[in-house]
Amino acid sequence: MSILIKGGRIITAADDYVGDVYVEGERITLIGASLDDVQADTTIDASGKYVLPGCVDPHTHLDMPFGGTVTIDDVESGQIAAAFGGTTCHVDFVIQPQGATFAAALDEWKGKAAGKQVIDMGYHMAVTDLREGGTLEELASLPDQGVTSYKLFMAYKGALMVDDETLFRTMQVAAETGALVMVHAENGDAIDVLVKEALAAGNTEPKYHALTRPPETEGEATNRAIQLARVAGASLYVVHVSCEEAVHPIAVAREKGWDVWGETCTQYLFVDYTFLERPDFEGAKYVYTPPPRDKANQEVLWNAVRTDVLSAISTDHCAFLWDGQKTLGKDDFSKIPNGGPGLENRLHMIHEFGVRAGRITLNRMVELLCTNPAKLFGLYPRKGTIAVGSDADLVVFDPERRHTIKASEHHSKIDYNLYEGTEVTGTPETVLLRGHVLVEDGRLAAKPGIGQFVERARFGDTLAPGTE
Ligand code: URP
Ligand code: ZN
Ligand code: ZN
Repeated sequence: MSILIKGGRIITAADDYVGDVYVEGERITLIGASLDDVQADTTIDASGKYVLPGCVDPHTHLDMPFGGTVTIDDVESGQIAAAFGGTTCHVDFVIQPQGATFAAALDEWKGKAAGKQVIDMGYHMAVTDLREGGTLEELASLPDQGVTSYKLFMAYKGALMVDDETLFRTMQVAAETGALVMVHAENGDAIDVLVKEALAAGNTEPKYHALTRPPETEGEATNRAIQLARVAGASLYVVHVSCEEAVHPIAVAREKGWDVWGETCTQYLFVDYTFLERPDFEGAKYVYTPPPRDKANQEVLWNAVRTDVLSAISTDHCAFLWDGQKTLGKDDFSKIPNGGPGLENRLHMIHEFGVRAGRITLNRMVELLCTNPAKLFGLYPRKGTIAVGSDADLVVFDPERRHTIKASEHHSKIDYNLYEGTEVTGTPETVLLRGHVLVEDGRLAAKPGIGQFVERARFGDTLAPGTE
């Protein structure tokens, strides 16, 4: 099976030119100014369109038990939503259940994906317990299985939170094995005190989710993680950076040349604290962690993604129904399951408000959504770029087509959208996964089961192209 994508504007992190891309089987085999002599089974006319690498989302939670319930999107519905948004690969979190080995946790998560995969995926291992569950030796064996990043939660006391000893020991293992350490950086102990005080004072509405998690608690934990990673000699990636207090220590570390990286998520660029104050429990839609911050942080974050203080934009897609799941916290904000949707709209939103608004270039958009996530998480150059030998994960993007973001028209099972009613110009038209047409004419053109688990390379290493 071969496909010729003709006359599109090919955009990578480095290049921007008009040309043809030829796909044979699952890989890109030829790129040229005009491949007129090439015979293909299918030709896609991409004139007037952008040809982008399939986007890579480094931070998602599908089929994850959390907050007394389970995220509404399983692997199938979450990945279908991702595909329609131009994302062809993501890295999801295996959460080690307390007392369980890492092998058991990984098996369980692979079982959740079996037969349901629509796009390609890898896993990070979220370490929750090194006392009764996994051992340091077992943790050290994970990179050999293609799980090359360890995640630690410095918040969610009594649930996923680890102490500094577990954090530091994991960093030491990562320094030895070449894995990347990821942290959810908030001071969970201080937040726990503030939450108890708020509830004792009768403050139960959704806005107290933010008021009990001040930005300083994120700044403190970010700095702590950076300093501990220095001592351990580990590479560090700070997830979902939401505020100036956390951007600052990352900027300082990067200026010093330390191996520290950060991401923000789409929602922190658009949703601010006032959304949590919306009446009739609507604020609960925006209960995710870290919480939406004061609006002034948004320009700080845009500036950080522009200047490479933050190097990736993820979705942290962790979707809970407003009606039926978020309502678990109707009378107590601390019981609202933490998380929001977003897998389908990252490219729409960053193209409209990043590129079209003049904040970042098209190349930088590709770097933030495709190339850097692929490089940081051991998927490059198989994923994250358009090059001969790379997987033919491609998005033909119509930069002129208007699109209104609506919960009623998206593909996740969620019953609301963080960006409801937002008008954007530019939308994915055709999406290819390893040369298979995934999305075409607004419909899913492939069946679940087509996606694969990808064994990722260690931090800093490249991933050789596949052999098929
Ligand atoms: O609220 C969030 N972000 N839920 C998902 C878990 C996490 O902290 O990433
Ligand atoms: Zn988190
Ligand atoms: Zn997350």
